[in-house]
Amino acid sequence: MNGINWSELTFGYMKTDYNVRCYYRDGKWGELEVSSSEIINIHMAATCLHYGQEAFEGLKAFKGKDGKTRVFRMEENGKRMISSSQGIMMAEFPVERFEEAVRKVVKLNERFVPPYGSGASLYIRPLLIGLGAQVGVKPASEYLFMVFVTPVGPYFKSGFKPAPVCIMRGYDRAAPQGTGTIKVGGNYAASLAAGTKAQSKGYAAVLYLDPKEKKYLDECGPANFFAIKGNNYITPASNSILPSITNKSLQQLATDMGLTVERRPIAVEELSTFDEAAECGTAAVITPISKIDDLDENKSYIFSKDGEPGATCEKLYKKLLAIQTGDEPDPYGWVKVIE
Ligand SMILES: Cc1ncc(COP(=O)(O)O)c(C=O)c1O
Repeated sequence: MNGINWSELTFGYMKTDYNVRCYYRDGKWGELEVSSSEIINIHMAATCLHYGQEAFEGLKAFKGKDGKTRVFRMEENGKRMISSSQGIMMAEFPVERFEEAVRKVVKLNERFVPPYGSGASLYIRPLLIGLGAQVGVKPASEYLFMVFVTPVGPYFKSGFKPAPVCIMRGYDRAAPQGTGTIKVGGNYAASLAAGTKAQSKGYAAVLYLDPKEKKYLDECGPANFFAIKGNNYITPASNSILPSITNKSLQQLATDMGLTVERRPIAVEELSTFDEAAECGTAAVITPISKIDDLDENKSYIFSKDGEPGATCEKLYKKLLAIQTGDEPDPYGWVKVIE
């Protein structure tokens, strides 16, 4: 069907049939509209173009063995988009309507949900932008919320294989009390130079340090960081990282597997004490880290010598995917079937 080679998909954009849109004008949200156009027509003075009034989300739908399509924790993405809107003064799109929009766009593009077992999934990208024209630095009075979808393969080429990351103190993705905790485009623009440099040196991502003191681990470009030390799942607490829904889910799974979860500042030197390290996020799922090269201090922290993921990362990865695809029961109420 579709002529798509599902198992060859990378994490990229592919045109699908429909997207859904909703406009905020005169102080209220309108009706959800369905569009088959990939283009949006906006004013040249729209605040999203000049002052970065833009927030987005990322979540996934999975096809199960039973042929049903399941979306993972969309309510959490809806809530996070509200927190992003509050952070950069945009109109808030209600969570129930966010869920309605996600259900609708997935249903309309059902033929693009990759088959069970292909290793691919349907990536869902909600977007909220300031549309109103402003020349002074002020919030817009008009907004567009939209959602499109695209089938994707793994974010990192390695898939569930350990990949190397690096530390570079010369770059921050967000300020200490800035926008790191919300999902706004500016954070990603700020990460492009470091990310590109890291990739040109053969690293999958940059592991950012806290922007204030450069003493503690923050997160990776597009994903949170966690480590396993004995029976402990350890992940950074910081005011400049995105609260990852995958990380939150893994903390729950880890607890229920009998691990102790520690969410606290993690000093860089502690890296040498960890048994396993990984990135986690919707796109990255769990991407184990093979080694972390501290390029400023000329130090290397090795987590996988044989190119294989650690046992605890693998157990968590399998458990998370089994819940997402419906292979295993979901006692948490995380997945919603799209009818
Ligand atoms: C900066 C950053 N951190 C972490 C994550 C992981 O968050 P989530 O698990 O909600 O996808 C993402 C991706 O959304 C991200 O962009």
